[in-house]
Amino acid sequence: MTFPKKVKIVEVGPRDGLQNEKKIIPTRIKMEFINRLSQTGLSVIEATSFVSPQWIPQLADHSRLFAGIKKKKGVSYPVLVPNLSGLKQALDVKVKEIAVFTSPSETFCRHNINCSVKESIDTIANVIQLAKQHKVRVRGYLSCVLGCPYEGKMAPRKVAALAEQLFKLGCYEISLGDTIGVGTPLQVQRLLETVLKKVPLKYLAVHFHDTYGQALANIYAALALGIQTVDSSVAGLGGCPYAPGAAGNVATEELVYLLAGMGIKTGVNLKKLLAAGRFISRALGRVPPSKVSLAMP
Ligand code: HMG
Ligand code: MG
Repeated sequence: MTFPKKVKIVEVGPRDGLQNEKKIIPTRIKMEFINRLSQTGLSVIEATSFVSPQWIPQLADHSRLFAGIKKKKGVSYPVLVPNLSGLKQALDVKVKEIAVFTSPSETFCRHNINCSVKESIDTIANVIQLAKQHKVRVRGYLSCVLGCPYEGKMAPRKVAALAEQLFKLGCYEISLGDTIGVGTPLQVQRLLETVLKKVPLKYLAVHFHDTYGQALANIYAALALGIQTVDSSVAGLGGCPYAPGAAGNVATEELVYLLAGMGIKTGVNLKKLLAAGRFISRALGRVPPSKVSLAMP
C-alpha cells in the first residue's frame, strides 16, 4: 500500500450538489456558499455548469454566479462544459478552468448529453482545442465507470480506453465517476489497476456517489493504490438528474475526517467546512448534518 501524503480535494457541491436539487437556490445564496467554501482551505471548487438551462434549470444562472463570486488567490473554480456553446459562454465570464464529461455507457451518454460516445469525444476534442487557445485548463470526467443505470456493469477495459482518449486529447486530470454509487472496494481496485495501464497515477481522480454507503471504503481502496485527488461534496449533496438512482456524493466533511485520521494532509479546516455545509443545508430546507465533535480524529 502506498497511501499519498497529501490529497487534493475537488469540491463539487455547488455544481454536482445543486444540479440535483428540486429547489432552485437564489444566486446570492450560491455566491455566499462558494465564498464560504473558498475560506475553508479547499483549493478546487467546481462552481457551476454551462450546460443547457433546459436540461439543468438549477444552474441557469451560471454566468451571473461565476462573475459574482469572490475568486480567492490559489483556489481554482472549474465549471462543467458540454459543448462549444457552453465554453463560449464560460469564456465570456473569464473562466480559467473547465471540466468536460462523457461516459463509457452509450445509453447514459445519450440520456445525459443527447449524443453517442463517439460524438461526445468529437465535441470534447473541439472544446479542448478552443480552450487551449484561451489558456483554459481542462479536466475530464467519465461517468458510470462502475455501473450504469441502463447498461449495468462496465468493463474496466472500456473505461481505461476512454480515459486514455481524454488524456491524449489534453485533459490534465481524469476523474472516474461512480455516478450511481454501485461500486465496491475490490471493483475499484480492479478498475484502477486497469486504467493505470493507460493513464499515469498522478493524472487520475476518483468521484464516488454514496448510494450504498460504499464511498469512503471505495476512496480507501483508491488511496491504497496511491490516488491523490478525490472529488466530494459538502453535506453529501449531489446526483445526476439523468442517472436514475444516483444518490449524493461522498460528503467532504467525512472525507476530510477520514484523511486526517490517516495522517494525510488536505489543508482543509473542518470547522469552517461544517459551517459551509450547515449554511447550504439550511438554504435547502434540510437538517444540517450533525457531527458529534469538531475535533479532528
Ligand atoms: P441538445 O438539446 O441535444 O442540444 O442538448 P442541441 O445542440 O440540439 O441544441 C438545442 C438547444 O440548446 C439550442 O437552442 C442550443 O443553442 C441550446 P435553440 O436553438 O433551440 O434555442 N444549447 C445550449 N444552451 C445553453 N448552453 C449550452 C447549450 N448547448 C446547446 N451549453 C446538451 C445537448 C449537451 C446541451 C444537453 O444535453 C445538456 O446540457 N446536458 C447536460 C446534462 C447535465 O448537465 N448532466 C449532469 C452533469 S454530468 C454529471 O453530473 C456526472 C458527473 O458528476 C460525474 C459523475 O458523477 O459521474 C460529472
Ligand atoms: Mg457526480
